[in-house]
Amino acid sequence: MKVLVVGSGGREHALCWAVSASPLLTELLIAPGSSAMSELGRLCNVAADDLDGLVALAKAEAVDLVIIGPEIPLVEGLADKLDDAGIKAFGPRAAAAQLEGSKEFARAFCDRHNIPQPAWKRFADASAAKDFAKSLHGYCVIKADGLAAGKGVIVCDTQVDAEHAIDELLGGRFGAASNRILVEERIEGPEISAFALLDGATVQWMASARDHKRAFDGDEGPNTGGMGAISPSPHETDILKAEILDKIIKPVAAGMAEEAMPYTGILYAGLMLTKTGPQVIEFNCRFGDPEAQVILPRLRTDFLSAVVTQIEGGLDHFDMRWSDETAVTVILAANGYPGSYEKGSQINGLDIAAAQSDVTIFHAGTKIADDGSILASGGRVLAVTAMGTDAESARHKAYGAVDIIDWPDGFCRRDIAAT
Ligand code: AMP
Ligand code: GLY
Repeated sequence: MKVLVVGSGGREHALCWAVSASPLLTELLIAPGSSAMSELGRLCNVAADDLDGLVALAKAEAVDLVIIGPEIPLVEGLADKLDDAGIKAFGPRAAAAQLEGSKEFARAFCDRHNIPQPAWKRFADASAAKDFAKSLHGYCVIKADGLAAGKGVIVCDTQVDAEHAIDELLGGRFGAASNRILVEERIEGPEISAFALLDGATVQWMASARDHKRAFDGDEGPNTGGMGAISPSPHETDILKAEILDKIIKPVAAGMAEEAMPYTGILYAGLMLTKTGPQVIEFNCRFGDPEAQVILPRLRTDFLSAVVTQIEGGLDHFDMRWSDETAVTVILAANGYPGSYEKGSQINGLDIAAAQSDVTIFHAGTKIADDGSILASGGRVLAVTAMGTDAESARHKAYGAVDIIDWPDGFCRRDIAAT
């Protein structure tokens, strides 16, 4: 089977790593990928948001299956275009990907299907938004409706904060993505991410994870794409898993099917465990980054077989098996990230770090120079993943490998998975 993976980050490196272990694979293409991924497949110079270019590539190469990593091509309809061209795609069609692409769609959908979530309202007008924030005593969350690369959410303590956030977002900070905003009740509790594989109405639980979104230790500093992750989440229990499936994941699958937008592919539910049970913070229509880097190493079933089974509609007879071990990933990012940072600094010691037992290093933003040296070329640069019998041992091994890497121009959090 000839497979094309779309994307170029650490998540896509992990996807390529999982796919290349499959006995079903005959050839792997990656668009655009990164030089570290060229060990696993052939890089094709087509950007992840060039939908027509990707369809043309898949046709010209007679690809059997396209695995779409990032949200933008999914929300913009890459799966639809591939389907129309007769090429199998892993990931939801645009209508279903609205669960991530529009926060208003997701909130209204949950209301229609009694899926637990905070109180919310949508506004295009600042004074009405401020009135609703006041009714929540300013203890609220202001969100851009559209995609804002994880940065369009402002958590407020007071009415002054809320009014400032409303003016900032409606003032065009994220362009069209924040023409409309949501004002939400601010709920409390530990966060957990649940990942499931959906095939229309059929649901298969995959894994839970927790990511660390803030840049610095102790959850300080600006929000990032994610500075590290652990899977399973320390909060996962069989009872919680059943509750998440019954109250959230299965109703999403049934509701989307009922509304003629059957959801296929990976559903990532970002949840908060409140005193009254799990509530939805957001949905994503794809694997997380860096959650994929801790979930895929725990998978004991062939990933490509699971993908093919989902696409062919046999998920109810398929059992994905998972390791009982814990995986931890620590992100090494360029100094300055998530603000501005330099590119091109050299990273040493990666071979020795990657050779440590139970350690796998996924590249999120590197470039291999002609002389073989490895240079930083992005904000998040490496995801250093380790497996262990528990969180402490996985964490210890991950930081052991991190400490071997010699890269003065990068930094990491030291408290990933430390609870
Ligand atoms: P999102 O991009 O929607 O995942 O939001 C980013 C972060 O903001 C989440 O991980 C939560 O920590 C926080 N957040 C979002 N919505 C709420 C809410 N309604 N109540 C409390 N915290 C929230
Ligand atoms: N790590 C958060 C995300 O992928 O959305």
